[in-house]
Amino acid sequence: MSLELRSAQPSRAEAPLRANTARANRRTKGDGGVAITVFTTLVTGGLAWAWTQRETGLIDPKTGWGYYIGIAGAVLMLALILYPMRKRMRSMRTWGNPANWFRWHMVLGILGPMLIIIHSNFRLASTNATVALVAMLIVSGSGIAGRYLYGRIHRGLYGQKLEARGMREEAIGWRQALGGDLGGSHPWMDILSQFESRAMADMDTLFSAFGRALTINGRISTCRRKVTRLIDAEILIDAHANGWSKATVRKRQAEERKKLKTYFASVRNTATLGVYERLFSLWHVLHVPLFILLVITAIIHVVAVHLY
Ligand code: HEM
Ligand code: HEM
Repeated sequence: MSLELRSAQPSRAEAPLRANTARANRRTKGDGGVAITVFTTLVTGGLAWAWTQRETGLIDPKTGWGYYIGIAGAVLMLALILYPMRKRMRSMRTWGNPANWFRWHMVLGILGPMLIIIHSNFRLASTNATVALVAMLIVSGSGIAGRYLYGRIHRGLYGQKLEARGMREEAIGWRQALGGDLGGSHPWMDILSQFESRAMADMDTLFSAFGRALTINGRISTCRRKVTRLIDAEILIDAHANGWSKATVRKRQAEERKKLKTYFASVRNTATLGVYERLFSLWHVLHVPLFILLVITAIIHVVAVHLY
């Protein structure tokens, strides 16, 4: 088989890696895109409409629609607890797909607060309502931050939890797939191998893990520039030996750069995984008390508005 023909096919080492990455991308794309845009438009549109109505007297938190919207918002926020319950309680293990529960948790975590903001008619009069509203905004905002951290340590949005070992193997797989179509030995393989073993080594302390996460991009750029130069030079040698056209050389260089990019992305994800895992556990520790604070303040608010 000619070198050009071989380059068009994914190598044997690449096939499972590509399948893995494609699976993750499919999941991420499926979760994003149109649905999120429609949802965001509806939420912002709903809030914008309510804002224009705030002086008309249409929404009054004490009576009619304004009051019922308050109840609806509180009910939606109560319903979102089903997701952590589904995760924890044995008796609920058979209740549908956890990914769907999680999706609904997030949807309700935004719709509920939206309804409560409309219920408030953008006014803060009493201390009890103000405290409940602030607690609600913090919990919902913290949920969005948590969702970002969650995405960094899971394959795709609702996928398996990532494990450092598997990710390391994936990065090494991408390195081995590099230059698979180039002839001869590759001195830059050693450079990459040394780089990755330092970048992906276990870190003893959170401080050192943070330090590495902060510097990884700069280190990757330096290493990438160096290795790209070496790979380009190797391709030129192959081009001379095989009489490749300029277009073929450019195509081959672009292909190797693409693989190099995927490889470094894989190293970066592995190198920062520990930091995101720790941040996510800290987030969990904070999120639950904030949630309890919301429940208490909401109860106080509901009791207070009916007593006084
Ligand atoms: C997390 C849930 C809730 C939050 C954050 C919330 C927040 C607010 C806010 C900001 C106001 C505006 C006026 C003020 O500052 O007093 C308000 C008023 C009011 N809310 Fe809520 N609310 C919630 C749930 C509910 C529920 C479930 C009910 C009814 C069962 C309710 C009944 C009322 C009433 C009656 C008022 C009018 C109080 C007055 O003007 O004296 N709220 N609420
Ligand atoms: C008022 C709104 C919200 C409330 C009351 C709430 C409450 C909770 C609770 C009680 C948990 C379980 C914590 C645990 O397992 O230790 C949780 C987990 C979570 N929430 Fe929310 N949440 C809200 C909004 C959101 C939003 C808007 C998002 C994202 C867009 C979100 C994302 C998450 C994530 C990523 C987790 C962790 C999931 C996991 O570890 O499996 N939440 N939330």
